[in-house]
Amino acid sequence: MSFARISGTGGYLPENIMTNQDLEKLVDTSDQWIRERTGIKQRHIASKDETTVDLAEKASRLAIESAGIDPSEIDLIVLATSTPDKIFPSSACILQARLDIHGCPAFDIQAVCTGFVYALTVAEKFIQTGSAKKALVVGAEVFSRILNWKDRTTCVLFGDGAGAVILEASEETGILSTHIHADGKYENLLWVPHGISDGFDQVKEGKAYVEMRGNEVFKMAVNTLGRIVDETLAANHLKKADIDWLVPHQANIRIIKATAKKLKMPMEQVVVTVDKHGNTSAASVPLALDVAVRDGRIKRGELVMLEAFGGGFTWGSVLLRY
Ligand code: ACO
Repeated sequence: MSFARISGTGGYLPENIMTNQDLEKLVDTSDQWIRERTGIKQRHIASKDETTVDLAEKASRLAIESAGIDPSEIDLIVLATSTPDKIFPSSACILQARLDIHGCPAFDIQAVCTGFVYALTVAEKFIQTGSAKKALVVGAEVFSRILNWKDRTTCVLFGDGAGAVILEASEETGILSTHIHADGKYENLLWVPHGISDGFDQVKEGKAYVEMRGNEVFKMAVNTLGRIVDETLAANHLKKADIDWLVPHQANIRIIKATAKKLKMPMEQVVVTVDKHGNTSAASVPLALDVAVRDGRIKRGELVMLEAFGGGFTWGSVLLRY
């Protein structure tokens, strides 16, 4: 059995930036409310003809370049998204064709904001068992398409983007453990209540939007992320002080701070992008990881905890030695 190690990262954000001041013109909100309640100052929004796979392709090419491999070496593609380009084929298959890769397995994963943690978990199993040697793992979203731009309780929170990693079989330690969970009984606290086999007419009429009972989701997220931190440390017989970096899902700065507090971790060791990216759902963790790798904060050999919480509910963590 080999380890699965991240050998390259990439991230991409659409050019168009929407500030809180821009949102003040759309809904009854204020820059002050958004910053104080969420930490968000701006988010990137895809242009009309820009799709999830467009963003995924750009992030993937950067991850491939930073890993120093040729796309033809990739033997597995796992793409996490809740906003796929098409009902089918999967966005992973469309991405595969764009990268001129042929024959390797390619599939999507749907775990909303925990999607990338789920995708990394699945790819790691393929590598550990020898079924794959070089996996492209992506989180990509164009969440702006499923937002009701008249609903101030949701439209101010999200943004678009993509992040990607190359996960390679290695003799060196990489991923130490993965922990994924779900509890479907909370479905309607955070959902898009229509889909393909249920409410397709509403989808066709453009009425399928994110709905969230933010306050209840907030409490669940803080408690659940606290528990997943404990679970991850216990599974690896590690102390809080052993962790060098926390790369959390970027939903709300208050949730991030609560998790950091649980880890007794100063905010200097926490990667925060929510101020600039907003909540990019499945893209948020790989985008934050890419930012901190590229600016030199996360270095080879350091211990990094990734964690996320999202619709489903789903939640999970990955502990890795970068
Ligand atoms: N601008 C101004 N006022 C607003 C806005 C806004 N954009 N949105 C809501 N308000 C008002 C509310 O109407 C309410 O007014 P009222 O007191 O008169 O009724 C007041 O602000 C407080 O609303 P709350 O919902 O209690 O505010 P809260 O402090 O909980 O913050 C927030 C809301 C930011 C949504 C927070 O609850 C949150 O971050 N929740 C968790 C989000 C999350 O983690 N999601 C999981 C991942 S996302 C995914 O999986 C897709």
